[in-house]
Order: sequence, then structure tokens, then C-alpha cells
Amino acid sequence: MLTDSLSGLPTPCLLVDAEKMQANIQAMNAQLGRLDVPLRPHLKTCKNIEIAQAMLAGHPGGVTVSTLAEADYFFSHGIQDLLYAVGIAPGKLTAVAQRLEAGMNISIILDQEATAEAVVKAARQHGCRYRVLLEIDADGARAGFKADAATLPDTALKLDAGGVEVAGIMVHAGGSYACCSQQAIIDMAETERRSAVTAAERLRSLGLACPEVSIGSTPTALRATALAGVTEVRAGVYVFQDLVMAGLGVCSESDIALSVMTEVIGHRPATGEVLVDAGWMALSRDRGTASQRRDRGYGLVRDLHGGDLGELIVRATNQEHGIVSQADGGKVDLADFPVGRRLRILPNHACATAAQHTHFWLTLPDAVPRRLERCMGW
Ligand SMILES: Cc1ncc(COP(=O)(O)O)c(C=O)c1O
Repeated sequence: MLTDSLSGLPTPCLLVDAEKMQANIQAMNAQLGRLDVPLRPHLKTCKNIEIAQAMLAGHPGGVTVSTLAEADYFFSHGIQDLLYAVGIAPGKLTAVAQRLEAGMNISIILDQEATAEAVVKAARQHGCRYRVLLEIDADGARAGFKADAATLPDTALKLDAGGVEVAGIMVHAGGSYACCSQQAIIDMAETERRSAVTAAERLRSLGLACPEVSIGSTPTALRATALAGVTEVRAGVYVFQDLVMAGLGVCSESDIALSVMTEVIGHRPATGEVLVDAGWMALSRDRGTASQRRDRGYGLVRDLHGGDLGELIVRATNQEHGIVSQADGGKVDLADFPVGRRLRILPNHACATAAQHTHFWLTLPDAVPRRLERCMGW
């Protein structure tokens, strides 16, 4: 039944296995239940309201977004409490003010004194009260004040004096993606927690309430052992999982709910390789497994049902072509891959692969796949 309905879909296309997705949601909920901290899911991975609602079940209802387009899309579907978790560009402050005016409960983040000055100025100009979380850098991976930076209290006081609500602290330990062992991820989770709590305590010692202490990435959320002082966890990619997460050991390959369905379009007999109609447009250029123990090229190839085909990977891509090879350089038995055979490709990074597509096909056994739209753009 599923085979018939899948063979009717145009390729390349994005499939979400609804059962695996639900199991991933349950695994995260069970972990956060043990840690007794609620989830503010990051919706940049799914960019779809139905999946967001499944992620939100049992949690307070606040979400994290990575674009104002996501904020608008989810607000239009009834989600009120949104954390826009990319350092705010001063050029977007008017757009944020308009959304506050429209009743959206949107919080922004910053990690620069200069940005704080721009926020204070824009608050005066628009007569609005921005809500800000200060971003802390736990691991040197991207952005944020150091938890002990002298500029942190100065910036917080400047915002407060300028009529801006200093709502709290946020940290994203993106460095967890480069961890080489389970213990390293556990340690990173504790570093993430400690830097957030330390920074929050510094703000509280100034007399600022700092109610929110927000942390999270999928690896640290799944491996944290205690989250004392943390008020919420943000995680997003866990909903689908991917090869990078499997390479880190925080899920197994059989947990990956997202795949790109593709069709064989030709052969390269000289090299024993197969051509498919999923290139970097369908898979993304993400090479997140390149630095891991097992490099999966642009994705790991499975059969149409997700069954194991060994170490068959997409070695190279053009815009609309993928070249499928044996990972060890051996020749593929081309007779097993006739033109027209359909395959699935598991993604390196689910967020990047999904971002190439306007919609998913949600699959359940014995049901016709259901089309789910994704919000696009900025
Ligand atoms: C600020 C922020 N919070 C949370 C997350 C969620 O992390 P993950 O995708 O590992 O679940 C991300 C992901 O990039 C992020 O940038």
C-alpha cells in the first residue's frame, strides 16, 4: 500500500515517517520529564504547524524560531509566545515593533552592547517595550557574551534603564555537534547549564529578575544529567534526527524520520556508480558527517522502505544529480539499481535538507501520504 502510494509521488521529495517522528518526540519528552524542565521546541527544523503541535504537546506552548517568517507563520496558526533566537539585526527592530503592536509575544536576543543601544533607541522611537534575552557563549562555537564578561552587566543595565525588558539568558551549545564521545556531550551539557545559570545569577545580583534561563541543542538536551537552575530547553532537530546526530550517538540511524525519495536515472559503468535525481537542490550541500568517524557524503542510501543497503552513499552532487557509490570505493552492482528504481536518502543535517523543500509527505503504514506545507524564506 505504502509502496503504491510512494510510487505516485514526484521525485525528489521529502518524506517524514510519522511513527519515527512520534517516537523521537516521545524520547525527548521522556528525557525532559526526567530532568523536570519544559521544552520550548525550535521549529526551524519542521517549519510546519502540525508537526509543531505534536512537539508542543505537554509543554507550556512557547516556541523558538529562526526567522520572522516562521514567527509570522506560527503566530497566524495561534502560537503566541515566540523566541526569535538569532542575534537581532538592528534593521529588523521596526519589524519586531510591528509584531509586538499586533499582539505577538515575541522575544529577541542580543550579545553586543551596540545592539543593545540600537534596541533602546528603537524602543524610544516606536514607543514599544522589547523583550530581550542576553545570549551567552558556552563553547566558543558561535555567538554570545562570555558568562563572566564585564560587558554583560553593563549591557543588561543599559537595556533596563532604556525601558527594555531583560527577560533572561539564553545559551546554545552548538559545539556539542563536534563532540567525540558521550562523556564529552554530557560535559558540554553541564557547561551549557553552568554558563547560563552563572550569567543569570550575575544579572540577579544587579536587581534584575532574569526569570528565563533557556538552554539547548539536541545533543545536550538528550545527554544532560541534571538541569538545576534552567527554566526551559530548546531543541529542534530531534524531531527528525539525522546522520550527524546518529554519528554523535544520540540516536540510531533507524530513528531518522526524514528522507529524500529519489529515482535512479542512469549508471556510470566505468566507475560502478548510480545516478539519481536528487542532487544538492534536494539534499542540500551539508557535509556534516565529513568530520565524523563515518563520512556519509551527501547522505546514506536506503531502499524505498528505508531498508539497509549497506554503506551506499551519495558521493557527489550536482544541482539535480546525485552520484551514488560504495563508501569504500568498491563498485555498485548496477543490475540491482535499474533505471526507475526508487530509493531513500537519509540526510546529514535534517534542518538543511528540509530547508530545500516547500513541503513534506507524511507517511504512515497503510495510509496515503499526506502533504504538509513548510514555511519558507525570512
Ligand atoms: C539558538 C538555538 N537554539 C536551539 C537550537 C536547537 O538545536 P538542535 O537543532 O541541535 O536541536 C538551535 C539550532 O541551531 C539554535 O540555533
